[in-house]
Amino acid sequence: MKSNVRQALLDAFKHADGEYISGEKLAQTIGCSRTAIWKHIEELKKDGFQVEAVRKKGYRLVTPSNKLSEDEIYLGLQTETIGRSVYFYESVSSTQKIAKEYAMNGANHGTLIVADEQTEGRGRMVRKWHSPKGTGIWASFILRPDIQLQHAPQLTLLTAVAVVLAIKDVTNIIPEIKWPNDILINGRKVCGILTELQAEEDRIQSVIIGIGINVNQSTENFSDDIQMIATSLKIELEQTVNRTEIIQKLCYYLEQLLNLYISEGFPPIKRLWETYAISIGKQITARTLKGTFEGLALGINDEGVLLLKQANGEIIEILSADIEI
Ligand code: BTN
Repeated sequence: MKSNVRQALLDAFKHADGEYISGEKLAQTIGCSRTAIWKHIEELKKDGFQVEAVRKKGYRLVTPSNKLSEDEIYLGLQTETIGRSVYFYESVSSTQKIAKEYAMNGANHGTLIVADEQTEGRGRMVRKWHSPKGTGIWASFILRPDIQLQHAPQLTLLTAVAVVLAIKDVTNIIPEIKWPNDILINGRKVCGILTELQAEEDRIQSVIIGIGINVNQSTENFSDDIQMIATSLKIELEQTVNRTEIIQKLCYYLEQLLNLYISEGFPPIKRLWETYAISIGKQITARTLKGTFEGLALGINDEGVLLLKQANGEIIEILSADIEI
């Protein structure tokens, strides 16, 4: 995270909504010297922000830059906790790994780690997650919810709904959820979610929610083996999508849904999840680490576990699987 003066400056520009603010007013509001203001504005410019300076009027932020950065994310954030501490890296092995280190060092609930590239991105079921530079959103949130360990899968479902709402808000595309946590557009995967826990006895220390969204890849950016099953927002929309905006909306919906979850429990989240789910009521094949099961997907229970009715009438609970419809 950058300095407090820089964040206060960005807040002031945000509130000014494109209008000029004098250097004196900025210095007064922020509580620093005018020289400090000037110095921080020069740094913002170096980082790609377009700041206009006009004599007797002051400064005005013309446009945010197009780069993914802590400042850009912070500038349009509409949340109180989620994403308020944000750390951006040009390249990391995996944001999950970095987030775990931050969590172990006491990072706040809502801390967000974002990278422009992951060299060892990880997916579910010990798979790799291809995370090339400058194209997608590779992000991990540190959550510290006061919930029981067995309820943790509910957070994955909650996150899936947050991703759907964020994508819908920014692009007008309505994605679908394939249990437990694949987000699809036109049947192809646009986002994956990986939830990892740190717990002691049955208390959750932290939950790390990793989200990978394919945003600006073209078809040829996907390797041959996933071209038929993966998509990106750009492919679907036929135009480049602003990653920062998606991240900000994701923070917003995560916070809204977490508040709803804390005040009213899982039922309203479950209802929202079911609105966007495609696998329920269908004949499916579930490939788990313990074997393959076929049957009718009845729905999810209050723990977020999938209930599968097999041909012999037996109903089994599926905790984690790859689903084929
Ligand atoms: C899946 O298999 O569908 C889950 C993919 C999760 C990928 C994200 S990208 C950000 C975070 N860091 C990782 O290494 N993985 C998750």
